[in-house]
Amino acid sequence: MNLLIMGPPGAGKGTQSERLVKEFNIPHISTGDMLREAVKQGTEMGKKAKEYMDKGQLVPDEVIIGVVKERLMQPDCERGFLLDGFPRTVAQAEALDKLLLEMGRKLDAVINVSVPREKIVARLTGRRVCKVCGATYHIVNNPPKVEGKCDKCGGELYQRSDDTEETVNKRLDVYEAQTQPLIEYYQAKGLLVNIDGDQPIDKVFADIMAALKK
Ligand code: AP5
Ligand code: ZN
Repeated sequence: MNLLIMGPPGAGKGTQSERLVKEFNIPHISTGDMLREAVKQGTEMGKKAKEYMDKGQLVPDEVIIGVVKERLMQPDCERGFLLDGFPRTVAQAEALDKLLLEMGRKLDAVINVSVPREKIVARLTGRRVCKVCGATYHIVNNPPKVEGKCDKCGGELYQRSDDTEETVNKRLDVYEAQTQPLIEYYQAKGLLVNIDGDQPIDKVFADIMAALKK
């Protein structure tokens, strides 16, 4: 399966991706996770990317396209992949098409998860992420069994630096201006699968699986 999951910040892309990659045994390619890893490692790219991320802006297309290209060339992607958070602009989508064509691959489906804007701020300001394994929780909707600790690995949970109310609103504006046009782009290609993300996590996953089986 060659999949792509898109939707506004906080739609639950990461949460659903954790399940989808287990189900299909494919690598999870999250550009956000890759950028946060570069920030943590203190690489040159990470230092530059952090400035954009903390302002809620997108990092430049040429930077992210290069990162994804390198990742898709890795042997583990031969059995399929799940792209999460990429593409985010029409230029990125065109670059992906070109790359997949060169590789002789194609997308099987584009999962578009929708959640109303007013629900998103509460989701993101309440999000907590495991420092060790990256698992995602929510202090109300999906709390860990022990406060501040990951259920899966016992790692410490933290709050992302871009999950403040102000930056979340900026990220939502950026999404509407730059990423939303991709819905039409993939609709025109007949790849779009629309999913209501404003439902319990298990129901969203069940809807995705049912839609992919069609
Ligand atoms: P990225 O990491 O991709 O962030 P994002 O798109 O803003 O998405 P999030 O990770 O915030 O949300 P999500 O949809 O994964 O939601 P989650 O499952 O965690 O990007 C961050 C930054 O990196 C960007 O701003 C940009 O600067 C840069 N970047 C990344 N990719 C780039 C690219 N291609 N080009 C340029 N720049 C790029 O869920 C959110 C919360 O809600 C959690 O607490 C979760 O537990 C809870 N939740 C999930 N599902 C449900 C549900 N069904 N009901 C109730 N609560 C739920
Ligand atoms: Zn963990």
